[in-house]
Amino acid sequence: MRGARIVGTGRALPPRVVRNEDLTKLMDTTDEWIVQRTGVRERRYVEPGTGSSHLGAEAARKAIAKAGISPGDIGLIVFATLSPDYIFPGGGVLVQEMLGMPTVGALDVRDQCTGFVYGLSVAEAYVKGGFHDYVLVIGAEVHSPGLNFSTPGREVTVIFGDGGGAVVVGPAEPGRGILSTHLHSEGKYARELWVEAPSFLEHPWVTHEMLDAGRHFPKMNGKYVFTHAVRRFPEVIREALGKNGLSVSDLSLVIPHQANLRITQAVGTALGLPESKVFSNIEMYGNTTAASIPIALDECLEQGRIREGDLVCLAAFGSGFTWASSLIRW
Ligand SMILES: CC(C)(COP(=O)(O)OP(=O)(O)OC[C@H]1O[C@@H](n2cnc3c(N)ncnc32)[C@H](O)[C@@H]1OP(=O)(O)O)[C@@H](O)C(=O)NCCC(=O)NCCS
Repeated sequence: MRGARIVGTGRALPPRVVRNEDLTKLMDTTDEWIVQRTGVRERRYVEPGTGSSHLGAEAARKAIAKAGISPGDIGLIVFATLSPDYIFPGGGVLVQEMLGMPTVGALDVRDQCTGFVYGLSVAEAYVKGGFHDYVLVIGAEVHSPGLNFSTPGREVTVIFGDGGGAVVVGPAEPGRGILSTHLHSEGKYARELWVEAPSFLEHPWVTHEMLDAGRHFPKMNGKYVFTHAVRRFPEVIREALGKNGLSVSDLSLVIPHQANLRITQAVGTALGLPESKVFSNIEMYGNTTAASIPIALDECLEQGRIREGDLVCLAAFGSGFTWASSLIRW
């Protein structure tokens, strides 16, 4: 079977920078609390009218250009987001239209912070199996319109930001590129990090009461998320290494989903990796859920932090709970 590798990356960050100081004017929080607990100093917010589809399309255009192909060469779109422009249809079809692509399949993935790695596993399978030569994988999020900017929402709101990233997966010689991808979920924790309303369990599915009670804002059991994340990240990275007969000392770089700086540091410590081998950019963008890994990957390549032959591990944990890793020989 042929291999599959990432042949192009791109990112799209909205220009509006929102610093911690700006949030202190809206809720009872401090720059010190946010930096100490999360590592976030600033994040980007879109203006009204820009959705995850727009950020996804912009990132995708760049990734396709860097791959040296054209939108017409893409055989399948995989779009990971928890913040689609509409309840339905999903964002993938909007990107298909914006990029003027032929009538290829557009698959939407709903695995929140882990969505990009889940999406990458689909691309890996299609390309390795010879079904398509090029698959576009997008992770894009627009959190800012859905956050609670009053004090009760502060624990969640200070963490998240808007952004988009994309990669093109194309064919490779066996043994190069994506070596394996590992996906997990544990639905008993579905309600520890979620948005419960509007809900199709209720009739009608959206009510004034829901909005008045703030049930449409994301809710997070922060301590629970933290405890599970610091266990699952190292576990799923070791799983990928073990599957390929490799060890932590073989790793050139880990690109974790940018959940929270303390989680990223704990992952490095658990694996015994120096800070230089665990990438972090959460300081600038906050947690952009499905977008964080492709944004980080694009930045790493731009900064020359990944060279041909390097062993790179992508890993994510998030709402679901879901967690996943992908081991790549660059
Ligand atoms: C959310 C999180 C940062 C909270 O940190 P923590 O160390 O557990 O918080 P602490 O227990 O020290 O402090 C909690 C207190 O800070 C307050 N607090 C919460 N958010 C705050 C904010 N933005 N500003 C100021 N104070 C805040 C709480 O109300 C609570 O106050 P209380 O003690 O009076 O009840 C932490 O649980 C975490 O990192 N969780 C994982 C979150 C994450 O990564 N989510 C994304 C998953 S993909």
